[in-house]
Amino acid sequence: MKNTVVVGMFFGDCGKGRIVDYLAQSYKVCVRFNGGNNAGHTILTNEKKVVSHYIPCGILHPNNMAILGNGMVIDPIALVEEIKSLESLEINVKDRLFISNRAHIVLDKHKEEDTHQLGKSIGTTGKGIGPAYQDKMARSGWTMGRAIKESSKSLNTPIEFLRPYVIDTVSLIHSFIDKGYNFLFEGAQGILLDIDHGTYPFVTSSNTLPSALYTGTGFPGNLPVSSVGVVKAYTTKVGAGPFPTRMELKDEDKQRLIGQEYGATTGRPRDCGWLDLPALKYAINIGGIEQLAITKLDCLLFNPIKVCVGYNLAGDFIDYFPINRLEEASPVYIAMPGFDDEIKKFQETVNYNQIPNRIRAYLDLIETFTNTEIAYVSTGPERNQMIKR
Ligand code: IMP
Ligand code: MG
Repeated sequence: MKNTVVVGMFFGDCGKGRIVDYLAQSYKVCVRFNGGNNAGHTILTNEKKVVSHYIPCGILHPNNMAILGNGMVIDPIALVEEIKSLESLEINVKDRLFISNRAHIVLDKHKEEDTHQLGKSIGTTGKGIGPAYQDKMARSGWTMGRAIKESSKSLNTPIEFLRPYVIDTVSLIHSFIDKGYNFLFEGAQGILLDIDHGTYPFVTSSNTLPSALYTGTGFPGNLPVSSVGVVKAYTTKVGAGPFPTRMELKDEDKQRLIGQEYGATTGRPRDCGWLDLPALKYAINIGGIEQLAITKLDCLLFNPIKVCVGYNLAGDFIDYFPINRLEEASPVYIAMPGFDDEIKKFQETVNYNQIPNRIRAYLDLIETFTNTEIAYVSTGPERNQMIKR
């Protein structure tokens, strides 16, 4: 029985939600293991546009069960809103949504503290994520279970509404394993935002690597989970920190417009850059990524297209991502032929081997450089616009 984890490779916002939504058809259980509503997915199903921040995209499939794992930090006010908004789209979460009693609560004071930081320092999403994890690690946080037991009015948060959903999800997960159910784990953010292995301190406050699924859910560490890394055909980033392949202003404005690169969580305009293959290779190595999913090729409309294939560091060419010396390094690019005129045909393609030549060359370059198989390619924003190899 195959279990799979889907993570973002750079700074998030790569279309993970799409890929999870696509894969969820073949899975019974969909689980989040890190972060909170700093994440944001936009999914287009045939009739609806759904934005979710907490609940994994599997919830869009009526037979799928959704679990919010112990590794998450949850603002009850925002989660209640999300549940209500899903219900207003006639997506029923009763008996399908389970919230870990060990997940931590984001309180008003966490959000206030985080908002004071907005615009300063690293440019967080302002959702209270860092301060909530700080309290968790200091062993002074409120878990969901504690809030429900003590039902503290002082928390000033709609915990009663969530009561029916809060359970010991670790036991639940183990009972699902016994039943032979398969699991799809939905990562949040991206590998370069990992607290240990990202571009510290410009990172989020949790581990975003596939391996975080084990501690973040209680899924046993001896059970294999294969990993899919999602990569956009170009790169985007919100918040401060190094972004070596950032485009020049004119190109960036064009890319932002075509790709509609505005944060699903904060609405902030995203910075846009060229694909960074050494960074991708770094994320693949550190994450143990087995397969890639490439999104938004149809939004990359330059000719030529620049791709970073190495760095210049103190006068030397290196072909790896210099994570510890990024401020001294400058990217080295090659130019790939543009493929604007192939997009129409591409969007009608259903078979990987029939992908038009120049788009295929771009994909082949990614595979060759990273020595990793591309297993999924999205050809447009709609649910069915997906090529599986
Ligand atoms: P925090 O997670 O709100 O503490 O923000 C830390 C950094 O991670 C900031 O640069 C955010 O913009 C970035 N970040 C957090 N979550 C996401 C995400 O889901 N997508 C993209 N960037 C994110
Ligand atoms: Mg996002």
